[in-house]
Amino acid sequence: GRRIFSGIQPTGVPHLGNYLGALENWVGLQDACGSVLYSIVDLHAITMPQDPAHLRRNILDMTASLLACGIRPAHCILFQQSQVSEHAELSWILGCLTSMPRLRHLPQWKMKSKQKNEGSVGLFTYPVLQAADILLYRSTHVPVGEDQVQHLELAQDVARIFNNRYRDLFPEPRALLSASRKIKSLRDPTSKMSKSDPQRLATIHLTDTPDDIALKVRKAVTDFTSEVTFDPERRPGVSNLVAIHAAVSGQSVEEVVWGARGLDTARYKEVVADAVNHKVAPIREGIVRLRAEGGYLETVLAEGAARARELAVPILAEVRKRVGFL
Ligand code: TYM
Repeated sequence: GRRIFSGIQPTGVPHLGNYLGALENWVGLQDACGSVLYSIVDLHAITMPQDPAHLRRNILDMTASLLACGIRPAHCILFQQSQVSEHAELSWILGCLTSMPRLRHLPQWKMKSKQKNEGSVGLFTYPVLQAADILLYRSTHVPVGEDQVQHLELAQDVARIFNNRYRDLFPEPRALLSASRKIKSLRDPTSKMSKSDPQRLATIHLTDTPDDIALKVRKAVTDFTSEVTFDPERRPGVSNLVAIHAAVSGQSVEEVVWGARGLDTARYKEVVADAVNHKVAPIREGIVRLRAEGGYLETVLAEGAARARELAVPILAEVRKRVGFL
């Protein structure tokens, strides 16, 4: 059968790129037949320095955010990665099947290892842990944004290497990309919208108020042509707004451009801000409500971890046996 797995780092409230690139898809998939797991990947988060109190709050905030987006614990397994220690154990075994050169070329290592320090061993082997997340449940499909495709190719490679050495066990997991594969920064439409962007106006968060959203969209970098067209190569700024508008309103890019004929970009930005707010407002309200319900979020995570463990334990036992551990 089909098994769906995906993860998100608890490094702050999700942004519009997370939502349109992945989370909206997560919500739709949980009602599909088959089993579905979504993980808050705190082991991945500590590959960059984290303040412990801050991390704890971020894990609960992410839980509240996912529930507010429409993730239902009755329809999927929502859990915190570090509560299922099998992830770390499988990651070790898979790391022994992965070559260093294969990891060295992945974009995240190339980018982040140049910041601050030299880059930790954990940051380097981050994609191996991601492969372990997916393979631990023998997952077949992984809903992610476009920036995760190379990590998924590594997971496929690792599955193949394991299967060749120890006989077939893992399906090769396939990426499920949403229609809006990559949402760009509002300040620099040539780079992706990202949680770690230091520019406050670059990123729309799911907790932003209508005023925050109006300001960020109004200040979004566009160009000196006032007409609204979709041309990501030559007009990345306005095209990013069109892509966002299409995604939040459920229209095609063509429909959005047709609807915006006669508007200049200043007026069009007001339309986009309204459309974004229409989508974000109920989620924002849900997050605020759930944040206040302390104990409930912990209970959801504890129950999710117990259910995830039940699936993981027999698969890891099989891996251990094949590897030759007594
Ligand atoms: P993370 O936490 O950076 O992002 C979570 C999801 O959001 C997508 N995304 C975007 N989509 C479109 N436009 C953007 N600007 C944008 N920014 C982020 C990501 O593609 C992702 O789907 N390594 C993963 C977490 C992870 C994982 C896994 C994912 C760990 N283990 C196993 C799938 C399966 C990450 O850092 O996602």
